[in-house]
This record gives sequence, C-alpha cells and structure tokens, in this order.
Amino acid sequence: MSDRETWATRVGFLVAAIGSAVGLGNLWQFPFKTASNGGAAFVVFYLIAVLLIGFPAMLAEFVVGRRTHRNAVDAFTDLGHRSWRIIGALGIFTGFWILSYYNVVGGWVIRYIVGSARGAYFADPATYFGAVSAGPEAVLAQALFLGIVVGIVALGIEDGIEKATKLMVPSIAVLMIALAIWATTLDGAGAGYSYFLSPNLDAIMANALDVIPFAVGQAFFTLSLGMAIMITYSSYIGEDDNLPVDGGVIVVTNTLIGVLAGLIVFPILFANNIDPALEGGPGALFVATASGFGSLPLGRVVGVVFFGIVLIAALSSAISLLEVVVAYANDNYAISRPKLAAGIGVGLFLLGLPSALDTDWLTWFDTFAYKLFLPLSVLFLVVFVGWVLGGDAVAELREGTGGLGAFGPIWLWTLRIVVLVGVLGTLALGVQTLFL
Ligand code: PHE
Ligand code: NA
Repeated sequence: MSDRETWATRVGFLVAAIGSAVGLGNLWQFPFKTASNGGAAFVVFYLIAVLLIGFPAMLAEFVVGRRTHRNAVDAFTDLGHRSWRIIGALGIFTGFWILSYYNVVGGWVIRYIVGSARGAYFADPATYFGAVSAGPEAVLAQALFLGIVVGIVALGIEDGIEKATKLMVPSIAVLMIALAIWATTLDGAGAGYSYFLSPNLDAIMANALDVIPFAVGQAFFTLSLGMAIMITYSSYIGEDDNLPVDGGVIVVTNTLIGVLAGLIVFPILFANNIDPALEGGPGALFVATASGFGSLPLGRVVGVVFFGIVLIAALSSAISLLEVVVAYANDNYAISRPKLAAGIGVGLFLLGLPSALDTDWLTWFDTFAYKLFLPLSVLFLVVFVGWVLGGDAVAELREGTGGLGAFGPIWLWTLRIVVLVGVLGTLALGVQTLFL
C-alpha cells in the first residue's frame, strides 16, 4: 500500500480513462446496435442514457475511488461499509466476464489488419469472417491480443498504462477524423448520414421499450461503468482534480468517437448498398463494413487503418480492465505486478476459450453482460453512493472544484431517483427477456 503508484499528471488520468471508455463499444457495437435498433431513434435514447444515467453513475465511481485511494474492493472497507465490498467484487466479476470475450474480438481485429493488407476478405467476406472468428486460430489470435495487454499492465501505472494510452488515444482521434473526412467523398455519404442522424419520432416511440434497455446497457458498457474500472482509475488521482469536469471530458470525448465511428461506417455501407439493419450480431462490423472496403479506392489502406484504430481502441480498454484485477491483487498479496498480470491473463484466456471456439458463446456472454451483470453492478453502486453515502459523496465530489453550487444536489438526486429508476427498469426488462 505505502508504495502505491499514482498518475504522473492529471492528463494521464484523463487519457487513460478515455482510453478505457473508447473501445469496441464505440467502434464495433455502437454503429450496429444503432442499425439493428432503428437507426437515429436509437442514437437519441443512447444520448439521453449517457447523459442522465451514465454520467452521474461515472461520478459515483470517481467518488468512491478518489475518497479512498484503494482498490475497488477494499475501498468499501475504508469507507466504513465493509459489506458493500460486494460492489467491487461484482464489478471485478463483470469486468472479467466481459474481458474474456473482448479479447477474442481483439484477436479477430489483429487478423483483419493482416487480412486487409492482403485483401484476403474482399472476395467473400462472410466466409472469411466465419473462418477467422472461431476455431484454433481464433484461440491463437486471442492469446496474442491478451499477451500485449498483459505486457502493458505488467509495466505499471506510469510506465505502462499512462505512457501507452498517451500515445494511443491521440492516434485514435487523428486517424478517425482522417477516415471520417475521407468518408465524405463516398457516394453513399448522404444516405449514410441521414440514416444515422435523422431521428424519426414515430419510430422512437414505437420501439421505446425494446430500445431503452439496449441504450442504457450500451451507455454503461461504453463508459466502462459497472466494472470497477473508474473506481480503480480514480483511486490513483489527487484531491485537486475536478471530478465533474474530468467526467464531462470523458463522456463527451467518448460520445464524439462513437459518432465519428458512425460517420465512417454508414457512408461505407450505403456506398456499397449494404442494408445496415440486415447485419446484426458479432459479425456486423467485420462482414458488412469489411465487404465495403473491397470495392473502394484504396480499400486495402483504408482497411488497415480502420482495423488498426479498432485494435488500438480495444487494447486501451482491455488494459483498464486487467488493471482493476491486478490492482486488487497487488494491494492484497505479496506477488509482483508482472506475475499477477500474467496469472490473471491465463485465467482470462481460459474463460474466453468457449467464445473463441464458437461465436454463439460469445453472443451468450455478451447478452448476459448487458442485460444482467452490468445493470446489477451499477444498481448496487448507485444505491450505495446515492442513499448510503449521500451527503458525504457530495462533499467528496466538491473537493478540487472550488464549489459545486446547485450541481451537488442535482447530481445526488439524479443518482438517487433517475439513475436508480433507469437501472431498475433496464434490469427488469433484461431479466424478463433472459429468463421469462
Ligand atoms: N468502454 C469499453 C468499450 O466501449 C468497454 C470495455 C472497457 C470493455 C474495458 C472491456 C474492458 O469498448
Ligand atoms: Na466506449
């Protein structure tokens, strides 16, 4: 504990948190959950969910982490509420669960970078995806991705995560802006934008009950909430950081990257007359978007850049999750960081094996994460920070801000009522569709 590391700079924390947030959630899931849930109508619910539910919940995680400077489990002991350690445990479990298949998708991405350079999937994208996404080679690719993640986390907070994400996050932003500009030149650009961005009010209302749980689950996933990540990352920052501002920067940046992803993907699809609504599921990005590259000018280059961005984004998210588990173990056992990172990596590899061998398993893991574990984990957090900590949480949030004004009580009551109701509703609908 005494030699616990910290971020070298405030920007270090921000960039690492953005690196965690921006990931496959923005690039792989967001465009296609949008497509399969009614286009722009989904975007509206998603934005509301991010702002009204995700942002307040993120601040709740920050309060716990910075108040205690402990790992996500022992933080609750320090706060004097030992039994609420369940939040940290559930968060770690949820994160571990999600990372197990996230690594598998990371492995696909590595192979798609190589495949793009060779034009390997241009002739028959669906068959190529089938071959890459499951089987012994997918297991190898999963191990390769995981090996990179373990290597970065083994180096520690300052030398590993902070240095790596300071390179990765700006690269993602620059490359995505470049691709989005390039996408404006495609024939399908206009149709793509309007599909993505012009909401149809009737469609919104007709599908509200189906779409809301997806939108809320997506908000948690994309902001890296409910996985003890933001508790852990904020445990390495100082009392002079302004938490609402930091949270705002993270939420806005993450949302902009999601929107940029849509501005790239939908023009590519419409340029190739691919109906986005037809391509759901884990293969969506890989089959539909990838099949667009084959017929585009400079398709190989664009493919390498595109999947290169996806890889960087996935890596910077995966390291945040591994760090959560390593931080907990590192605070509690006298085992070196590199050994812990490697050992936990092996555990993740084993849990990911079913997903690497069969995409149906991957979908099953993903569905349980969205519909059950993420909302459950956030539910406990919100009850604890909103109703148990209450005023103390507002006091911690105030540190470093020079005064919150009305934002303090507004945040607390949003957490207590709006977030709580939103999470309960999501959980109820999720449980109903999973089990009933
Ligand atoms: N926020 C991440 C994303 O959008 C989700 C995530 C983070 C998943 C860390 C796994 C590990 O991709
Ligand atoms: Na994200």
